[in-house]
Amino acid sequence: MKTTRNCVEFILDGKILRLNFAEESAIKPTTTVLNYLRSIHGHKGVKEGCGEGDCGACTIVVAEEGIRGNLEYKALNSCLLFLPMLHGKQLITIENLAQKKGQEILLHPVQQAIVDEYGSQCGYCTPGMVLSMFSLYKNSPHAQEDSIKLALSGNLCRCTGYKSILNAAKIACSKGPEDHFTNGEDAVLELIHSIHKNTDPILLQTDDYQYYIPFTTEDLLHYKSGHPEALIIAGASDIALRQTKKNELLPNLIDISQLNDLKFIQEDHAGFYFGAGISIEELRDFSEDRYPALFNVLNVFGSHQIRHLATLGGNLATASPISDMIPILLVADASIRLISIHGQRELKLEEFIKGYRQTDLKADEIILMVRIPKNERITFINTYKVSRRKDVDISCVNGAFSVELSRNNRIDDIRIGFGGMAAQAKRAAITEAFLSGKQWERNVIEEAMQLLYTEFQPISDARAKAESRSILAGNLLMKFFLDVNYYTKTQADVI
Ligand SMILES: Cc1cc2nc3c(=O)[nH]c(=O)nc-3n(C[C@H](O)[C@H](O)[C@H](O)COP(=O)(O)OP(=O)(O)OC[C@H]3O[C@@H](n4cnc5c(N)ncnc54)[C@H](O)[C@@H]3O)c2cc1C
Ligand code: FES
Ligand code: FES
Repeated sequence: MKTTRNCVEFILDGKILRLNFAEESAIKPTTTVLNYLRSIHGHKGVKEGCGEGDCGACTIVVAEEGIRGNLEYKALNSCLLFLPMLHGKQLITIENLAQKKGQEILLHPVQQAIVDEYGSQCGYCTPGMVLSMFSLYKNSPHAQEDSIKLALSGNLCRCTGYKSILNAAKIACSKGPEDHFTNGEDAVLELIHSIHKNTDPILLQTDDYQYYIPFTTEDLLHYKSGHPEALIIAGASDIALRQTKKNELLPNLIDISQLNDLKFIQEDHAGFYFGAGISIEELRDFSEDRYPALFNVLNVFGSHQIRHLATLGGNLATASPISDMIPILLVADASIRLISIHGQRELKLEEFIKGYRQTDLKADEIILMVRIPKNERITFINTYKVSRRKDVDISCVNGAFSVELSRNNRIDDIRIGFGGMAAQAKRAAITEAFLSGKQWERNVIEEAMQLLYTEFQPISDARAKAESRSILAGNLLMKFFLDVNYYTKTQADVI
């Protein structure tokens, strides 16, 4: 077993900050970045609104080294981020944006645009709003209205109104990405490299907590086999709520957010291979051209901040009945590969999901990757999410569908997956069997809709009544039918 360290290091205000949790009584490993910043001098601009990832008042930016060796600037919800997750990264708060030149304060172009366009009133949302705009300014200069709206979808303002904020973003982004951060990037990368030189695992130990950070899969699996009770966290967008909302103590955690071995996207003639540690945002970016059916649902997954935190593995391991990933992966016939110190095993996602928030994961296993086979026979595949509002909302019902049609319009194979219709996301096996071999015609689909009403017995809750869920499921099938017909007609017109 390698030696371990008991501190984390990150960059704040241009310097490396070293936090030793055994010596600092005011912080614990599960202290959120929000609470930490609110407790120190000079960084209290960050605000708490909801404490659960919905409002964006707590947005900060974290810069880390990307695959091309440059700095990537990610807006994140600091209310969901545990302090050790900053290890080896640069933390940027609202106080870091403006520059002091002698007696003069030079606002960052994003701040200046907010002032010029009257984009702030009470100011409570403004630091978070500005930091979301700052990450857009750095990553997507010349961003257009759609990208701006998407980037700001995780920031709520209850007084200014969004028009002036959107105008400010448009003006600011037309000037990016050069600013005083650009000049300092080499120095920051040097500091990041010096932190990452040491790849010994970190073990933060206090009287009440053990927080382990491995940097290799080997270290992770060794530690997990000796501590099967320890809880894995990846993006913590699900787990953090257990502390912030339910006041649970999380005494024994393994943080896999630094594990680059799990962050890969590969494609060959047979399929797509997604590492469990890739973020939903990375998957969204990749799927835009390569897998549009996946992109459609990832585009309305949480907010920009949540998608940067949330991982693919975390989504599947929660086995939530309203997960946005599971229905499309069921329909795409995805397999999931698990790894432990004893080796690897692969099973179909359908076998992995066992019930309401239950999976086949053993105590010493972790999810390594997801494999989606390529299937040339599929005529059309798509996914649809229905929620009470478009952005930052959990699905009432989401449906994924794929169909293989023969030349004479017969259904050779159809796969239908739903979230929000049962205790677990699952396929509509009875309706699929009914449709298989039938003609692809409206009256057949209408019969199948009736069957769907009886196949599932959804529950009523705050999001939707049982009856509306049943109606939605049927209507989504009809929508898919119409979309397939439109798609096949346009394809035929092209040919
Ligand atoms: C405001 C908000 C909006 C959200 N919106 C959506 C949405 O639109 N759609 C949606 O589907 N979900 C949504 N979620 C839920 C959540 O973000 C996702 O489920 C996310 O993908 C979880 O990933 P994570 O890495 O943050 O998981 P974590 O919180 O780190 O972990 C979740 C679970 O997965 C386990 N785990 C993580 N990685 C692995 C691994 N590699 N191997 C084994 N176990 C692992 C952990 O032990 C834990 O049990 C939202 C959450 C919030 C707070
Ligand atoms: S405080 Fe609302 S998103 Fe963090
Ligand atoms: S300016 Fe008041 S909440 Fe946005």
